[in-house]
Amino acid sequence: MNAITSLLDRLYGNPSPSREDVREVLTCTDDIKLLDIFAFADSVRKKHVGDGILLRGIVEFSNFCRNTCAYCGINRNNAKLERYRLTREEILESVSMIAGCGIRTVVLQSGEDSGIDAAWLADIIRSVKERHDMAVTLSVGEWDADVYRFWREAGADRYLLKIETTDPALYGTLHPGMSLENRLRCLNDLQAMGYQTGSGIIAGLKGQTYDSIVEDIFFLRDRNFDMIGIGPFIPHGETPLRNEETGSVSLTLKIVALLRILSPTANLPATTALGSVDGKDFRLRGLQAGANVLMPNFTPVPYRRQYEIYPGKRCVEEPQGSCASCMESMAGSIGRHIDYSIGNRK
Ligand code: 5AD
Repeated sequence: MNAITSLLDRLYGNPSPSREDVREVLTCTDDIKLLDIFAFADSVRKKHVGDGILLRGIVEFSNFCRNTCAYCGINRNNAKLERYRLTREEILESVSMIAGCGIRTVVLQSGEDSGIDAAWLADIIRSVKERHDMAVTLSVGEWDADVYRFWREAGADRYLLKIETTDPALYGTLHPGMSLENRLRCLNDLQAMGYQTGSGIIAGLKGQTYDSIVEDIFFLRDRNFDMIGIGPFIPHGETPLRNEETGSVSLTLKIVALLRILSPTANLPATTALGSVDGKDFRLRGLQAGANVLMPNFTPVPYRRQYEIYPGKRCVEEPQGSCASCMESMAGSIGRHIDYSIGNRK
């Protein structure tokens, strides 16, 4: 057994893995060792969640946002962006299309839109649950506990809220007017209410260090999140980070692999950012480094290009619903298959 494999063996199944070992994997730049790391994560993926790739149809129903996150293209200060909010009917039609493709999870995502009325969204959640045998995932940012409870009681099953970074100082500079403390409060509330809860980080942000990413990885593992999404940073021209370097694909894949090894049963998406970075599609690489989830886009086409959290987002012109067959061929190309079950965490 070579040195990197014994290191990975030491991490896998270890109730208290060491930060030094995680850091060593994270900083690895040797191409041969990287192949070993990804292959190890791939075998852990196969053993714990199998060869099926779970699908989550995403509907980006509003790009209004009250926040000014330094990396995000739909931040409130981007005056060039035309804002939209789908109607209840438009959302429910998109959800029907997801169901029509045999996909059994909808992710309802938006900016932190103060124009969202909690009762309006609760009614949509209830309607989806009445019409379809489907899981509803919300990804709509920070709200009060009573709002989270209200949506949970309306039938929402899961919630995505990325921590983005656990470094308090970096968190503060990236998120003016927000706090890591409230982010953590939200995640605590969501988990306590029985939401299957997802989090994650952006990889390659300016100011991030290997040490801070090691802490992020331990946070994501220790909190036992059901879903963990990792995407590379992609600079957006209408943000303060417009001139910063793009996050590295290799760094992103190493984080995905480490999370699979440290959190073997979590659902890990090959994120849309990984499919959009550098004008290429690295999602297959993600699926071969530990990921087991894809998130086809079901936002109606005229609005899709306006949900520009980063530039070069893939598939903005594809007809709504054409993603399903594409997912099938992606899976087939790497000897995997699409798993059409509801996809709760194993
Ligand atoms: N590059 C990469 N990912 C981004 N996100 C937002 N802006 C960017 C960007 N410029 C991610 C955040 C957010 C998710 C919806 O999109 O992680 O949680």
